[in-house]
Amino acid sequence: MKTVIVTGGAGFIGSAVVRQLVEETNLRVVNVDALTYAANLDSLGPARNSPRHVFEHVDVCDRDELERVFREHRPAAVLHLAAQTHVDRSIKDPGVFVASNVDGTLNVLEASRRHWERLDAEGRSGFRLLHVSTDEVYGDLGRDRPAMAEGAPYAPSSPYAASKAAADHLVRAWSRTFDLPVVIAVCCNNYGPCQHPEKLIPLVVLNAVEGKPLPLYGTGENVRDWLFVEDHARALRMLLEAGRPGQTYHVAAHEERTNLEVVTEICMLLDELAPREAGRHTELIRFVADRPGHDFRYDLDDSRMRDEIGWRPRETFRSGLRKTVRWYLDHPEWVQAVRNAEYRRWMAAQYQDGEAGG
Ligand code: DAU
Repeated sequence: MKTVIVTGGAGFIGSAVVRQLVEETNLRVVNVDALTYAANLDSLGPARNSPRHVFEHVDVCDRDELERVFREHRPAAVLHLAAQTHVDRSIKDPGVFVASNVDGTLNVLEASRRHWERLDAEGRSGFRLLHVSTDEVYGDLGRDRPAMAEGAPYAPSSPYAASKAAADHLVRAWSRTFDLPVVIAVCCNNYGPCQHPEKLIPLVVLNAVEGKPLPLYGTGENVRDWLFVEDHARALRMLLEAGRPGQTYHVAAHEERTNLEVVTEICMLLDELAPREAGRHTELIRFVADRPGHDFRYDLDDSRMRDEIGWRPRETFRSGLRKTVRWYLDHPEWVQAVRNAEYRRWMAAQYQDGEAGG
């Protein structure tokens, strides 16, 4: 039975990947996660207790422990998703992002390289390190610039995006200098069940249900492309099998919306699924101070992913958003656990008027 290591497998996207690997393949999955504030083993569902799921409570910043995990489990492939991911937190505390996303990626690369060099010829040619990146590495596209193709210049805006860009550069260097068989996946905004409610969509769902303000940064006109997380997880699985070593692949939904449109769609769904006596949910929308350096828009040209790999998303934004809103309404215990003291501190500090965070 082949083993794959998933770093960050208790996070939002990582847990979706682990669930799919356990449920839909015969692979043994070693889940390496530091269990930071954004991680939750409950997000794994029944996959958590599968005999093919092994949890290793290890931070990718801990080089020795990571090396131990590679020596013990001898993976045929690695999916590297462990990262600090929230742009607003990177503005308040950039150092954590450099540690996890840059140093952590360096450790994953070095552990992978040492492991790969010990493999026999067959193991070496089959090995893959799939590194998960973000459209934010390309920076702000403004209103009218065309979609970015693979190989476009990097111009990250936030400390978060800069740390992910640095990680990508390291991964490419390990491919070119050491011939390590890496594949880079660059994705647009994800949404779906189990996303931490510091991010726009779950934050708005949960605030709206409690009749709290729905904070929109600036004018609410910034545009994001929204992909349902299960579609991203499937894209990563396909890349693990068919991605060419040394290549980057863009993963996009082509479901662009302004933030105001997204929030309005959530409000309309909640008007139907959880009506408020006090009025329509859109009445809760508040325009608040903008995020510093807020990128207006990203747009990925994903023809390589669609033509070469044959991947297509299954969900539309409409269908995926409905599933997502329902999931948050149906899982109060998951929500309760994640909205702990740390979360309340973050919300109070980030949304200082107190109302949206309170
Ligand atoms: O584009 C991919 C990226 O998408 C990932 O690499 C990041 O890890 C992920 O966090 C996400 O970044 P964003 O900054 O786009 O996601 P976020 O949910 O924080 O914000 C989405 C948009 O909504 C963005 O334009 C900022 C805006 N926003 C966000 C929050 C939390 C608001 O207007 N109000 C809010 O309270």
